[in-house]
Amino acid sequence: MLIKRIRGWEIPERDVTPESVYSRRHLLAAGAGLAAASFVGPAGAQSPDPSAGLYPAMRNMRYRVDRDITEERFGSNYNNYYEFGYSKSVAQAAKALPVRPWQIKIDGMVESPRTVDIDDLFKAMTFEERVYRMRCVEGWSMVLPWTGFPMAAFVDWCKPTSGAKYVEMQTFMNPDVAGNQRSRGYPWPYIEGLTIEEARNELAFLVTGIYGHPLPGQHGAPLRVMAPWKYGFKAGKSLVRFTFTDKRPKTFWETMAANEYGFWANVNPKVPHPRWSQANEEVIGTGGKRVPTQIFNGYGDFVAGLYTNLQSERLWA
Ligand code: MTE
Repeated sequence: MLIKRIRGWEIPERDVTPESVYSRRHLLAAGAGLAAASFVGPAGAQSPDPSAGLYPAMRNMRYRVDRDITEERFGSNYNNYYEFGYSKSVAQAAKALPVRPWQIKIDGMVESPRTVDIDDLFKAMTFEERVYRMRCVEGWSMVLPWTGFPMAAFVDWCKPTSGAKYVEMQTFMNPDVAGNQRSRGYPWPYIEGLTIEEARNELAFLVTGIYGHPLPGQHGAPLRVMAPWKYGFKAGKSLVRFTFTDKRPKTFWETMAANEYGFWANVNPKVPHPRWSQANEEVIGTGGKRVPTQIFNGYGDFVAGLYTNLQSERLWA
């Protein structure tokens, strides 16, 4: 029997946040962005953000979400960034991170290892906005309008050699501005990774901005990754290094607690975390509303095919 499966971008228009509502929020956010389009430079002085002119970028309507976009006052004040604090209120502390100059190192199994200035990288990429669901392994979720560029374009630009199977991503390391990096109980710097196939999947996104302006520190300025079918901890922030390798990266959370957080970490409501259920999630900014969690966070049509030959792997946590 043929069953019609509705893909993400085919959901009824009425289920998508009305454009008029989004546009109004978008304008407000863009206004806030003008104020936010500066950053703390290395000497602690406020400087204009050299990438501010790239915002707002055109929204790619292929990626639609059946929920309202989380308001910025919630989205940008309820964050996980352990380098700057163990609570959700890290926005103030993360302002200490100097995000220019910022260089990205590309090494390992690539034709030519190199280090690139972030603004030169931005010039080489085409920016767009994408609205994605984000599901944290802790049991909460948001819908966030990210700006950035497809990770597939970046991977091609890096020219990995044919033997490369994974890309390992590393967060900055600077205990002078991120005091928690002095804590010996954690395997700093934060490391995350994807297979090359995952990184080339059309959903994988390298994020430079949110709500129509450059990323503020707490969201992982100036560059972070987003793989929306995976738990949020895969979305490493403030990246400085991409290493192409044939060895599966040992990630930060896997090193911390391998029985709770694995490499794959695909969202699955039927596979509980060892200490709590993953069946549903609290939607942040809705006064505690809970909704059922979806397999692959609702993105199965895009990504399930990546895993058909990997059933022996621990794909879900
Ligand atoms: N990246 C770094 N470097 N440090 C972190 O503590 N937390 C992760 C992820 N990326 C984290 C990180 C977790 S658990 C989540 S849920 C998301 O960032 C949260 O992203 P947001 O704060 O931008 O919403």
